[in-house]
Amino acid sequence: MSHKPTVRALAIGDYDRWMALWQAAGLHSVRPLGRDGREAFSRQLKGGTHTMIGLEVDGRLVGVVLATHDGRKGWINRLAVLPAHRRSGYAVRLVAEAESVLRAEGISVIAALIEPQNEASLELFRKLGYEDASGLHYVRKKDSPED
Ligand SMILES: CC(C)(COP(=O)(O)OP(=O)(O)OC[C@H]1O[C@@H](n2cnc3c(N)ncnc32)[C@H](O)[C@@H]1OP(=O)(O)O)[C@@H](O)C(=O)NCCC(=O)NCCS
Repeated sequence: MSHKPTVRALAIGDYDRWMALWQAAGLHSVRPLGRDGREAFSRQLKGGTHTMIGLEVDGRLVGVVLATHDGRKGWINRLAVLPAHRRSGYAVRLVAEAESVLRAEGISVIAALIEPQNEASLELFRKLGYEDASGLHYVRKKDSPED
């Protein structure tokens, strides 16, 4: 059997698989009761500006990334690879696919938010040519803590 990874756009029917993957990957920023809930995702995927991308090996989902844009700037969100499959270049492949989806939508500025202690992610994005926009403050307002 070929162990070649394949990449495809995921649909809402894949929701349980990508949620299980995020949990197994320890992605603690996920908000299952807010913007990462099933209903919320269903709405977001219908909007045409959100693409959930999955990487599968032998039919098993081992990595995901959510590419979004607001018509002006693109965002790489919720990137995660299962622990047993890391350092195989899968995150590189997922980010490349997210970039290509965003470029096809006419987006030429792409950004990601990385938590301060996440050296693996920081190294990954630096390697892929992302500049560290240090000195910026990230501010936000939530209607609910779960959002
Ligand atoms: C960050 C993460 C997605 C990387 O996935 P991955 O598939 O292992 O990454 P890749 O194999 O594509 O790595 C590409 C490069 O990124 C860098 N990198 C990846 N993991 C690293 C680590 N643990 N330490 C240092 N550099 C790392 C390296 O430069 C690596 O190249 P190399 O293997 O040739 O040295 C994965 O560790 C993960 O799922 N972490 C938990 C969730 C998370 O933090 N997501 C990011 C949110 S912003």
